[in-house]
Amino acid sequence: MPDPYYIDDQVTLLLGDALEQLRALPDGSVDCIVTSPPYYGLRDYGTPGQYGLETTPAAYVETMRALFAAARRTLADDGTLWLNLGDSYSNPSSSGTVGATAKVRATRADVQLRASGGDRPAKSLLMIPERVALALQDDGWILRNKITWHKVDAMPESVRDRLARRHEPIYLFTKSQDYRFDLDAIRLPQAASTAARSDSVPGATRNPGDVWTYSLAKFPGAHFAVFPIDLPLRCIMAGCRPGGTVLDPFSGSGTTGAAARQLGRKYIGVDLNPAYHDLARERFAQGVLDLPA
Ligand SMILES: C[S@@+](CC[C@H](N)C(=O)[O-])C[C@H]1O[C@@H](n2cnc3c(N)ncnc32)[C@H](O)[C@@H]1O
Repeated sequence: MPDPYYIDDQVTLLLGDALEQLRALPDGSVDCIVTSPPYYGLRDYGTPGQYGLETTPAAYVETMRALFAAARRTLADDGTLWLNLGDSYSNPSSSGTVGATAKVRATRADVQLRASGGDRPAKSLLMIPERVALALQDDGWILRNKITWHKVDAMPESVRDRLARRHEPIYLFTKSQDYRFDLDAIRLPQAASTAARSDSVPGATRNPGDVWTYSLAKFPGAHFAVFPIDLPLRCIMAGCRPGGTVLDPFSGSGTTGAAARQLGRKYIGVDLNPAYHDLARERFAQGVLDLPA
């Protein structure tokens, strides 16, 4: 285990490049990975070595493939990977500059850095999540679900020639065909219409399905998109054994860690930026901000 930036009996925060830090973790030492990497050409996190500023979509996909290959080695054979990734439009003429030590901070969904489309013309949706998912499949991962996260209060986009985006995928990947998945832990109450039918079983529950409707989280202090705590809570309940270890190689403000702590799992979070780890530590100390919706 590399030298931690912070450690207690439940949480380990590692500071540095995700790929380098993962290479130093033992084989099969985590049970579940829940993460949202930097999206392609979207934000400048202000840290040298950050991902997402690659000069072509293909280079970004290769960064993700290599990162998740390293993550796969650290995952137990019956472990799960839950990967949330948003898409980008080819935007070669935007004012932001990919690869520079830019002061540009994109805080709204419609402000995008210069994302080269490779061979795609400007304005083309790049299908980055699909490209990454196919690359991971080619690399040996088993793709079990493509979950749609429906964002009820998605950030506004000032566009007039296309529809505003309201959803992102969460991919569930596994290492093996037999893996840990506790469906009972995430079952929902039966829909009212079903429960009202005379042949319905009292107290019956249902599979939550692959469309998850959650509001965006507004975490004070983080200028970047933070996923709502309900999202990692559900992934961890289903995909991590009780008492097991959850990893987020792009820990940010530590939403995955907050969920892991609530559920009595251990947490390893990696991030390049010490300010985000400090934010996560404050958040863990306060706890109250992380009540599920
Ligand atoms: C989308 S944010 C993660 C947000 C997180 N899910 C949360 O709830 O706060 C992506 C994070 O990846 C980090 N990051 C970017 N490049 C990295 C790299 N090469 N290694 C490790 N972390 C990196 C950024 O600093 C940022 O905190």
